[in-house]
Amino acid sequence: MTTTDGAHADVLVVHASKAGGTAGIAALVAEELEKVGLSVAVARAQDVDHLAGYRAVVLGSALYMRRWRPEAVRFLKRHQVMLRGRQVFLFQSGPCGADAASQAAKGAPEPSTVRRLREGVDADAPITFGGVLDPATARGFLAGRMARGELAGDFRDPERIRRWARSVADRIRPADRPATPWRGGVPECRP
Ligand SMILES: Cc1cc2nc3c(=O)[nH]c(=O)nc-3n(C[C@H](O)[C@H](O)[C@H](O)COP(=O)(O)O)c2cc1C
Repeated sequence: MTTTDGAHADVLVVHASKAGGTAGIAALVAEELEKVGLSVAVARAQDVDHLAGYRAVVLGSALYMRRWRPEAVRFLKRHQVMLRGRQVFLFQSGPCGADAASQAAKGAPEPSTVRRLREGVDADAPITFGGVLDPATARGFLAGRMARGELAGDFRDPERIRRWARSVADRIRPADRPATPWRGGVPECRP
């Protein structure tokens, strides 16, 4: 089960979502990581105080006007030092409409602030996932209008998200442990 307090979780999955679409992707990523036995905590970017205890962090933001959500950028800034000592995996979600799948595969442009910050913590560029525009969850006049136009729909691709999450799980290093167990005694030395 996904922990929410993160007390002993291996991985923290953080999301910055306005209308819930990116939060849904984060939940799917967490589910997939748990399938391989990792313990996972999920949190909103603005709710994370510290990263102590986590071995890896997955951060995902929605794209609005070609930018990441401000709380995701703040997360990268605020936790820079702690992120440097951890594996960091990034995703962004946005493309909607008929071309969503090809735009997502090609990758939406990475905002320059995000590039600078994630290079500072040695993270790869974010993968892009399709987004969702739903009149039931759209917030704001423009979003409401867009969610009733030709971009409306759910363009998140669960199988592609799951595949990426499995590749993240493969890259998460096992917890540090001695290469060979200590069994006591002194190894025999021969001249
Ligand atoms: C006002 C507005 C601006 C958007 N700007 C972008 C954008 O620049 N690039 C993009 O790929 N998607 C853009 N989108 C699509 C959103 O990223 C997409 O709906 C996403 O799923 C929203 O995530 P959320 O539900 O987590 O807030 C925009 C949507 C709205 C409503």
